[in-house]
Amino acid sequence: MSKVGVLGAGTWGIAVARILCAHHDVTVWSALPEEIDYIKKHHTHPKLKEIIIPDNMKLTTNLEEACAGEYIILGVPSVFVRSTVEKAKDYINDQILIDLAKGIELDSLYTMSEIIKDVLGKSTKLVALSGPTHAEEVARDMPSTIVSACNNLEVAEKVQNLFVGTCMRVYTNIDVIGVELCGALKNIIALAAGISNGLNFGDNTRAAIITRGLSEITRLGLSMGCLEQTFNGLAGIGDLIVTATSTHSRNFTCGTLIGQGYKPEEAIKKVGMVVEGINALPAAMQLAKRNNVEIPIINAVNEVINHGADPKETVNTLMNRDRKTELTRSISDINYENSIIRSKRGLGMKRVITYGTFDLLHYGHINLLKRAKALGDYLVVVVSTDEFVEHEKHKKCYFNYEQRKGLLESIRFVDLVIPEESWEQKIQDIKDYHIDTFVMGDDWKGKFDYLRDEGVEVIYLPRTPEISTTQIKEDLHKDKKGG
Ligand code: CTP
Repeated sequence: MSKVGVLGAGTWGIAVARILCAHHDVTVWSALPEEIDYIKKHHTHPKLKEIIIPDNMKLTTNLEEACAGEYIILGVPSVFVRSTVEKAKDYINDQILIDLAKGIELDSLYTMSEIIKDVLGKSTKLVALSGPTHAEEVARDMPSTIVSACNNLEVAEKVQNLFVGTCMRVYTNIDVIGVELCGALKNIIALAAGISNGLNFGDNTRAAIITRGLSEITRLGLSMGCLEQTFNGLAGIGDLIVTATSTHSRNFTCGTLIGQGYKPEEAIKKVGMVVEGINALPAAMQLAKRNNVEIPIINAVNEVINHGADPKETVNTLMNRDRKTELTRSISDINYENSIIRSKRGLGMKRVITYGTFDLLHYGHINLLKRAKALGDYLVVVVSTDEFVEHEKHKKCYFNYEQRKGLLESIRFVDLVIPEESWEQKIQDIKDYHIDTFVMGDDWKGKFDYLRDEGVEVIYLPRTPEISTTQIKEDLHKDKKGG
């Protein structure tokens, strides 16, 4: 059981606090005494009336009390993150901070983790928790998934463990900024999806907005050094799907009202809660400008929300932009990469295999490998493991298996190195690696003819005279003795 403080008693903070109560000692703090009083009196939340607040959830307006545990969860809206951390600063030492807010600060263009670092002025154990998780559903214990992102994976895993046994399955990631960008920018795409809904456009339009919206977020993220996988994960496409398709989403609802003809201010008032996408718009525009990235959908939403553009006309403009390709790299780059991948996998080419110890790599080995490779396009070298050499070949290697493997891998005739662990594995290797030609030095002549029954060509190449590993060892030994 851990001691957890949750700062903020909004719907998401309370939903997270409630599920953690089953396994941990949880204290919820709010700056608003009336919010705390309401929950204490009614044992529910004013905006999540169907949930019952567990008796063991402690409620306080005393910030120090809420920060007394090992974990502090920041559950306030993004615009209050800076001020809340400033207030809590004196009580924050070695705790793990978990941020739930999603957004980008105007002017500084900081994500939430960057704001927190800025206020605390020191490196902290900071996790961004973000994913497809509506408070309304988590509050009802519906199975949900989320990402715990921290540049220190161990800290991300601690937060992952905190949620074991709850309805939230947590995945870890190290790309904090990527996860945070996804969380902030998907709200804008959800506004766009809402506007399209309000205009009575259908599923095709929504799918287009989600897909092309994700490309915009990904482009911006990649220009800022984030990982592509993050955008294809739960915090990216996962959260985008949920936000842009669900009526629980304030951004989607607000967009729908705007599409129906409400002025943005009226729509915000009607939603009655913070619409994070609208707050994130100016920062998104500035980030895109700073990184020289095209964001046409976000730009269109900005025109509608902040410059009074007509939603329907804006859609027309979007549809009639310059024609584009979906591909993010040039066709010649893609063809080149595909050919490399094909050659790495050995697809559509003649594959050759050879076996040996390859200790104290010498020119006799290189000669063999060169000629073996010349018999096809892809060469697999099967190297005897240390155990195999000792027990089956009754020799001892000077270089261990990993060293011999590493040397062979750096030879340009060799495409793949795998271990030889038994005499019998050859037939299986031939099948597994789709081998066409089996090659050995002619010291093995006749020994592997039976493999022809497997449909492979068996070739014995003449050995390079005079040199062998045994010979090298003997010569060095003689020299030593002589010297
Ligand atoms: N090989 C070769 N010419 C040489 C030495 C080896 O063509 N002068 C070939 C072998 O016939 C075998 C492969 O290289 O197909 C790997 O041989 P390996 O047994 O590792 O090398 P040797 O130097 O022969 O080792 P040792 O003296 O320990 O037998």
